[in-house]
Amino acid sequence: MLKKQQLRLAYDVAAPNRVVPIAKDSNSLLHQTLTTGVIHGDAEQLLGELPPSSVDLFFTSPPYADARAYSRIHPDRYVDWFLPFARGMYNATRSTGSLVLNIKNRVANKGPLKGQRHPYVYQLVLALQHMGWRWIETYIWAKPNAVPGKFGPRTKDSFEYVYHFARGPKPYFDLDAVRVPYKADEAEIARRKMDKLGRRSTDAGFGRDRTKTYLLGAADPGNVVSVPQSYNQYRGVAHTAAMPEGLAEFFIKAASPVGGVVIDPFAGAATTVVVARRLRRSAGGFEIHHQFVEEGLRRITADIADAPAGYLVRAV
Ligand SMILES: C[S@@+](CC[C@H](N)C(=O)[O-])C[C@H]1O[C@@H](n2cnc3c(N)ncnc32)[C@H](O)[C@@H]1O
Repeated sequence: MLKKQQLRLAYDVAAPNRVVPIAKDSNSLLHQTLTTGVIHGDAEQLLGELPPSSVDLFFTSPPYADARAYSRIHPDRYVDWFLPFARGMYNATRSTGSLVLNIKNRVANKGPLKGQRHPYVYQLVLALQHMGWRWIETYIWAKPNAVPGKFGPRTKDSFEYVYHFARGPKPYFDLDAVRVPYKADEAEIARRKMDKLGRRSTDAGFGRDRTKTYLLGAADPGNVVSVPQSYNQYRGVAHTAAMPEGLAEFFIKAASPVGGVVIDPFAGAATTVVVARRLRRSAGGFEIHHQFVEEGLRRITADIADAPAGYLVRAV
């Protein structure tokens, strides 16, 4: 475990080998985070030092329960482990701000639930709601290229959750920023635009009014977000759990304004920071493991958020 003293150092992007001390006041930590990109330290401590109401979006993928060698958190303890981070984010989020959390189910490998899906994700959602976070939406991140494995009497894991929580009743959300092309062809769209009848009549007596949706220029993408997993560990990105940039892009565009502040407290290899900066947000993150801080800073400097996704590329 890192000593407290070491935790209060940041890296200088321009000179990655140089560490700079963080000044004591919290405004300075935010400034340092946004200018440096990734601060080396424990997010629980660092989140507590962010000024109240200073962040538009926390977009993050924390370590999942028991899943990785770098931080083993038993699913039975996961909620207790996560709540201090959630409290820190809550205090630092603006009234229009959000927490968007990528997390994944797991199968219990011991205890009375052995062999079953562990409920820790659902327990966490309820605990966050209890804390005051407003549960806005559950998204499914569908992974069309999920890798097969030995999963027992079930299919391979080909989705993860992305939960959107808001700090207040009117969170920033820009649906237009994530619209997708209509599936209908141009002739059908033109026909619907002319349709003055509004609600479609069906034999069953119900149907949605589709006339107005075709005036919006593009379609609502829905809450299943399909993004191929990128297998960055084979492409020289030294993090085994880096997310694809497409996932970060979708939620940063939708849930934070241009020019807003985006923080990833579990920054890993800094995918959130790279993508958010590219999208003209002020962005930074925290990361407890030194080698990932260095990797993140390397990617920020080179603007590398992703390996080409959709297929496995093995190192030769
Ligand atoms: C799932 S990974 C994030 C990957 C990241 N989204 C990316 O694309 O590279 C979670 C990260 O949280 C870091 N972490 C775990 N505990 C932490 C803590 N207390 N403070 C800061 N970072 C922590 C881990 O070292 C790991 O890199």
